[in-house]
Amino acid sequence: MTVLATIGAQWGDEGKGKLVDEIAARTEYVVRYQGGSNAGHRVVFDDNEFSFHLVPAGILHPSVTCIIGNGVVVDPRGLLGEMESLRKMGVDLSRLLISERAHVVMPYHFVLDRLEEESRGDDKIGTVMRGIGPAYVDKYSRVGIRMADLLDVDQFRAKLASVLAQKNRMITQIYGQQPLSLEEIHTEYVGYAQRLAPHIVDTQIVLQKAVGEGKPVLLEGAQGSLLDIDFGTYPFVTSSSTVVGNAAMGAGLPPRSIDYVLGVYKAYITRVGSGPMPTELFNGEGDALREAGHEYGTTSGRPRRCGWFDAVVGRYVARLNGLDSAAIMKLDVLDAMPVVKICTGYKLGAQVIKAPPANLNDLAACEPVYEEWPGWQTSTSDARTWEDLPEQARTYLKRIEELLETPLAVVSVGPGRGHSIYLRDLPF
Ligand code: GDP
Ligand code: IMO
Ligand code: MG
Repeated sequence: MTVLATIGAQWGDEGKGKLVDEIAARTEYVVRYQGGSNAGHRVVFDDNEFSFHLVPAGILHPSVTCIIGNGVVVDPRGLLGEMESLRKMGVDLSRLLISERAHVVMPYHFVLDRLEEESRGDDKIGTVMRGIGPAYVDKYSRVGIRMADLLDVDQFRAKLASVLAQKNRMITQIYGQQPLSLEEIHTEYVGYAQRLAPHIVDTQIVLQKAVGEGKPVLLEGAQGSLLDIDFGTYPFVTSSSTVVGNAAMGAGLPPRSIDYVLGVYKAYITRVGSGPMPTELFNGEGDALREAGHEYGTTSGRPRRCGWFDAVVGRYVARLNGLDSAAIMKLDVLDAMPVVKICTGYKLGAQVIKAPPANLNDLAACEPVYEEWPGWQTSTSDARTWEDLPEQARTYLKRIEELLETPLAVVSVGPGRGHSIYLRDLPF
């Protein structure tokens, strides 16, 4: 077994960064395969905090090669800034490779992300304004610019001139804003290309060779399955496919090379941005979760919407991804709760349903049906084995495992490296 995929199993921010940093100690490659700098993966290590947006969260391990795959959309300015701050913290970045086929997030993508959100008014998606949606639109409209195009100065200029003319018509005629300058963008991006050139390679060849040699590879998901373009709460989703079905494609690997799928859940649930969230708490319990869990966006700083663990969407995601096991993160955040609740079904009209409806109005009308369990009201932060956990916490986790129909492999009890309980062997 060589390829393990970690998948965000809720609406993002489950703690993927912490888990990837921890498991990366045992791997040789960590690969981002979709999304862009809308991701914010926080890692706490040696009293330092790192926020990764594009650089894979395995980079803190000196022997790991980190790959930004073809399925990612790359903002070169943001990436260079992130690389610079990591370099200042002593991280060696020669081990970072970027796919020639990855699409580039351009200045007009940022502008259009903002203008489109403003024009949606009350129906806004609440994007993180990193140009992600507009960059994927161009990829599928076949007018995107890829890393390989940036390296070819003349071809880049011709492509940019053509697409910018079209974008400027939108910016000026639809939105009444100032056009962007071809010269400025060209000069700026040629500069980025020169600085990134040593990192830009045919990454799928590197990965296919590694897999052929049986080397361990960790695929690092961004966002979460409930933000997936097909299976999430459309249209309140991101613009990429976040489920495991896309992981091999975004890395440049054959689908059957993925040996193991690990779903990452929080012990409760959060969401940033708009869209239905059946177990959202609007009372003091929601505020308590937000404060105990420091639930403020890594990328945008926005307060996250907080709610009880939702096993309805949880099982839906487990089945969609064929999870081999699940990680339950941030159990310690529930430590002070006198009662903990799990949503086991949705009341919709006279019926109780066990899977999320595709119709968004129906989902918004769903009322959670809860099971209540006694809280443990004691710290779990120092627990390192199953037996160290209070009995009430074990009962709560066992019930989640049963409802997800998926064995638990990891329970996380703190943000730092090692603040975890491993319940079963992972493939490496
Ligand atoms: P990601 O996007 O899935 O990587 O998650 P984020 O990094 O955006 O948000 C998760 C937050 O929870 C980060 O600040 C982590 O440092 C923190 N975190 C991760 N695991 C734990 C845990 O088990 N307990 C606590 N208290 N914090 C955690
Ligand atoms: P990580 O990888 C949480 C949300 C945004 C918005 C919607 C669309 O840190 O878990 P976009 O900018 O992608 O077009 O925004 O998706 N979103 C995330 N929410 N965690 C993320 O990433 C997210 N990336 C995007 O808040 O609702
Ligand atoms: Mg995050």
